[in-house]
Amino acid sequence: MELGVPLPRRPVPGSYGVPFVSAVRDRLDFYYLQGQDKYFESRAERYGSTVVRINVPPGPFMARDPRVVALLDAKSFPVLFDVAKVEKRDVFTGTFMPSTSLTGGYRVCAYLDPSEPNHAKIKQLLLSLLVSRKDAFVPVFRSNFGALLDTVESQLASGGGKSDFTALNDATSFEFIGEAYFGVRPSASSSLGTGGPTKAALWLLWQLAPLTTLGLPMIIEDPLLHTLPLPPFLISSDYKALYAYFAAAASQALDAAEGLGLSREEACHNLLFATVFNSYGGFKLLLPQILSRVAQAGEKLHERLAAEIRSAVADAGGNVTLAALEKMELTRSVVWEALRLDPPVRFQYGRAKADLEIESHDASFAIKKGEMLFGYQPCATRDPRVFGATAREFVGDRFVGEEGRKLLQYVYWSNGRETENPSVDNKQCPGKNLVVLVGRLLLVELFLRYDTFTAEAGKKVVITGVTKASTSAVNRTA
Ligand code: HEM
Repeated sequence: MELGVPLPRRPVPGSYGVPFVSAVRDRLDFYYLQGQDKYFESRAERYGSTVVRINVPPGPFMARDPRVVALLDAKSFPVLFDVAKVEKRDVFTGTFMPSTSLTGGYRVCAYLDPSEPNHAKIKQLLLSLLVSRKDAFVPVFRSNFGALLDTVESQLASGGGKSDFTALNDATSFEFIGEAYFGVRPSASSSLGTGGPTKAALWLLWQLAPLTTLGLPMIIEDPLLHTLPLPPFLISSDYKALYAYFAAAASQALDAAEGLGLSREEACHNLLFATVFNSYGGFKLLLPQILSRVAQAGEKLHERLAAEIRSAVADAGGNVTLAALEKMELTRSVVWEALRLDPPVRFQYGRAKADLEIESHDASFAIKKGEMLFGYQPCATRDPRVFGATAREFVGDRFVGEEGRKLLQYVYWSNGRETENPSVDNKQCPGKNLVVLVGRLLLVELFLRYDTFTAEAGKKVVITGVTKASTSAVNRTA
């Protein structure tokens, strides 16, 4: 990058158009007429700049002010990670905030700025919980996703040659996370039974509706989802059932929370949010995306993954250990590459704490205190000035080797660089290492079982065929 070369100063180009009318028109462009990528790319092109003034959805009446300065390249984007420069209070979902009656009346961790005292306490609680459960993740993942693949095989055998991975993952990820974090399967809880994933999905929709399309006709969907909040009371009994599971299953973590100076109630709403919104919401999107990217990459990559995974597991005596996973460089690179191309959380926001300068590759821009900064992550992590001519392609081994490792600093999915770590003082995702672990475990489970597989990706990812492993490395009960 252009070290040492002074950049020209430019006012931030772009236009917010006519108040209200343009914001609604832009929302329709974003959801229905252009689509997300095109929405941002076309505006960057029109104004000849990757830092540009635009409206973001949902706009009226959901958000008071849709105007932002968008950061659409790898160089300007990281200002959003710098909590000395940007305020992160109440901007988790952007220019609107869902009612706190959906979270027990509390502003949960993701909405807190690190300057608020409870941010550090809650984040510490989550970081400690994940460390305390580190030995559970591998076996609990393997038992849950091993069962998922048993189901895939029986569905492929029994009819139609198709198995809906997205649907199976929705059910399995929910069970996996509950069991991994708290040692209690949600389906074993009397308040949830097998209804947990549906209750969770509805609660997520109630918060994310302004940012969601369900594929309904625009004329019905736009007023229904994007104009006014869905009434919280309609979902309160589902939320109560989720809460009851956490209040019972997470008692040890809640004891720890009291030790950190948090009330049991606030901690429980936070554990629910981190588990169901952050973790479950994340895995619902990420695992089908990894599967789809790897399916499309084809047999050559499958062969290399199977060889790497089986050899590392064989070296560990046939067991999937954390040390064996560390040796799987290609496998980890594939997960990072999927996270780079399809970051599950695409939008990041922060409000300028003071007047500041932001640099794109080509120019420097003056930002005024109080302006809302917005990063559309796919534009930043597919930046051709960093990732070259293949920036938009899936290159499984992109992050392998010393040269590959140098690119890791430009992987931003966790709201921080992949080379940095979450702490109580920043806003980087505390699940960062777990997420990359889980992505790797999905590939391990697949390629211990199969030499190759095929899948179709549309709104859902559907497995259409598997070829059983011709060589084996493993004690499957390990
Ligand atoms: C924050 C992504 C999984 C807990 C974030 C942020 C992103 C992110 C982008 C920052 C949002 C912002 O401030 O703008 C993801 C993705 C995941 C994932 C893509 C999975 C695929 C998890 C997991 C946990 C978690 C497993 C479990 C504890 C949190 C919490 C925050 C957060 C509590 C707020 C952090 C803070 O306030 O400092 N995550 N996350 N996430 N994530 Fe994750």
